[in-house]
Amino acid sequence: MSELRFDGRVAVVTGAGHGLGRQHALELAGRGAKVVVNDLGGDRHGGGGASGGPAQQVVDEIVKAGGEAVTNPDNVATPEGAEAIVQAAIDAFGKIDIVINNAGILRDRSFRNMSPEEFDSVIAVHLRGSFLVSRAAWSHLRDQGYGRVVNTSSPAGLFGNFGQANYSAAKMGLVGLTRTLAAEGAKYGIKANVIAPIAWTRMTEDVIPADFADQLGVDKVTPLVTYLAHESNETTGEIYTVGGGKIARVFVAETDGWVQKGEQTAEDVRDHWEQVNDGTSYTVPKNIGEQTMALFQALQ
Ligand code: NAI
Repeated sequence: MSELRFDGRVAVVTGAGHGLGRQHALELAGRGAKVVVNDLGGDRHGGGGASGGPAQQVVDEIVKAGGEAVTNPDNVATPEGAEAIVQAAIDAFGKIDIVINNAGILRDRSFRNMSPEEFDSVIAVHLRGSFLVSRAAWSHLRDQGYGRVVNTSSPAGLFGNFGQANYSAAKMGLVGLTRTLAAEGAKYGIKANVIAPIAWTRMTEDVIPADFADQLGVDKVTPLVTYLAHESNETTGEIYTVGGGKIARVFVAETDGWVQKGEQTAEDVRDHWEQVNDGTSYTVPKNIGEQTMALFQALQ
């Protein structure tokens, strides 16, 4: 089997000073990609002051192993920061092919006690940051007719999690963002997918039981990211859970449901509730067009 190489490709990995992003950056560089290692520094809550230290260490590791990388300390959550991250790729390597939106912070709090600031700051890094960095890269990807975008969601977003209203909202938002990027990128050779990982990092070390630390290494997430970022990947707009050696597709499905033409009352809804919720038969629309078409057909 041929190796998946990235020679001649340029990748930006955000939040690559630690954890998953670090592993993605090392792996892509080890396979020949030129990498912008972005990281703002700071602690897992986004505090602690900006520091370029962790990103520089990753770049040093890549260079020592014979690879090519530059560090970038900008903030994904501001338009200027996002522009500077992409510009770092253009300045150092002349182009950009791959965007791995990975940077993230946590501000967990039960919903009752969550402040607007805690909500906004998490949305800003995960959702707005992925929007801004992808936006800064988009015209480059479009103009060259090629691009790979991998966004980082979370099972907490896909399925919900106590104490993470801000994080879950941001992470599910990334699903909508990614699917729309996939639709808009289709005719320009741009593929966009979203992963929902689980791995033992500083972000999760106090929530994942220590017994699983060995099996949930970051090296069990990076192979999927690497494949999705490769030119041989033709898949776009999909969602994958990944971690501990398991990779699975997650999809948004619509049950066959219940259709009643003409007048419809709340009592009708109550009386057909089982049919509405019955998951034995469903479709998985690829886009809004397919979903709406199914409704129009049912109405004919
Ligand atoms: P981590 O805390 O080790 O890495 C996140 C990195 O993002 C840090 O190096 C941090 O400095 C950087 N960062 C934070 N805000 C930034 C900003 N505004 N601009 C640039 N860089 C910034 O955490 P981990 O676990 O590696 O997380 C990576 C991604 O994976 C995150 O998006 C996280 O939400 C997601 N994720 C991780 C899971 C896990 O089990 N570790 C589970 C689900 C999702």
